[in-house]
Amino acid sequence: MSKKINPSKILITNIISRQDDIANGNYPHLPLPKFPKYTIGNLRGGIGKTSLAFNLSYQTDNLLVVDTCPQGNLSYFYDEEYYVNNSTNVRDLILPYLLPGLGKATRVAKNISASNPHFEKKNSYYIASSNDLYHLPSQITTALNQAKSIPGTQQMTAIDYILYSLRDEIEREMKEAHLERCLIDTSPFFAGATHLAWHATDALIVPVRTDQQSINSFELLIDTLSNSNSEFRKNIPSDGHTPKIQLVVLTHCAWSTKSGARNEPNQQTKMFITKVKDIVDRNIQHFTTQDADNHILLLDDFLGTGRISTVSSKPISLLNAGDSMRINRVKATVNASVEKIKAQLSYISKSIW
Ligand SMILES: Nc1ncnc2c1ncn2[C@@H]1O[C@H](COP(=O)(O)OP(=O)(O)OP(=O)(O)O)[C@@H](O)[C@H]1O
Ligand SMILES: [Mg+2]
Repeated sequence: MSKKINPSKILITNIISRQDDIANGNYPHLPLPKFPKYTIGNLRGGIGKTSLAFNLSYQTDNLLVVDTCPQGNLSYFYDEEYYVNNSTNVRDLILPYLLPGLGKATRVAKNISASNPHFEKKNSYYIASSNDLYHLPSQITTALNQAKSIPGTQQMTAIDYILYSLRDEIEREMKEAHLERCLIDTSPFFAGATHLAWHATDALIVPVRTDQQSINSFELLIDTLSNSNSEFRKNIPSDGHTPKIQLVVLTHCAWSTKSGARNEPNQQTKMFITKVKDIVDRNIQHFTTQDADNHILLLDDFLGTGRISTVSSKPISLLNAGDSMRINRVKATVNASVEKIKAQLSYISKSIW
């Protein structure tokens, strides 16, 4: 799938040179449009979708977070009782659109601070996931096939009703709780809730890990957005809605240890920046501006900081260098790079809201 590229033809100097400013909290302005709702997604597991969703959710306020991944990792960050609680969830919002006769739910979103004290200063809400989302792909397929068997103009109305189910429910929940912004976390698979999440927002944030498999998944995602035979394009709503990509966030980046190298990515990370830039350049029509440099941001490897954040459900912004804890009898420590990660997260947040 990947094309052979000539690295010397792909300029990454702008992306590299701004890293020092970003690390120091000086924010070079990126001329990006802003959207109220974003979906975080890429068609690969373990690349940082949920970690990014969780940490970005702490960067703003009056936010609705929606967990559409059946694994429920993000829901667990917000509520440690998630796997034993059986409360109304995102599947309950979608099912009435697929199985007529089921009653619709209202006011499903819960205040995050009620179950995660680290969010006590925030007025942000979340809609939990459900393990049963694993069944959603076949339920959506069945419902779409039924819609397609309806003759005449009502067919398209029925298809729109299904494809926009999550969007309509999210907009209702946002209105009911007076929320301004929304962030959706997705699973590594397209079929099911991810498909509906793409239609619930106008812009995507795509984490890409610094490895070749993640680069391949990024190309697969663009192919899914654009190829007329893809699962996404086979069932498009009447207005042709297709989200654009606002940001590619390169995760697990590493930095040069050469003396005098001020916040300069190491050679391997530079190679992945080059590969990402090449893909963005070739597919710029799927991005929210016409300049690839606006769309590629970097995030350090979280290392021990990430482990502590994960086990304590504490956003990285609340951690400080030297904080430590025992995880499975092994001591983990917040690395000195935590201040840089905080600055990078803040920069990502300023690039979307
Ligand atoms: N820069 C980074 N961004 C995000 N995650 C990072 C980063 N560096 C290290 N990590 C670690 O990588 C792991 C990513 O896991 P995460 O659950 O966020 O991935 P995911 O894409 O949501 O996976 P899945 O597809 O299974 O839901 C976490 O352990 C996290 O701490
Ligand atoms: Mg996840």
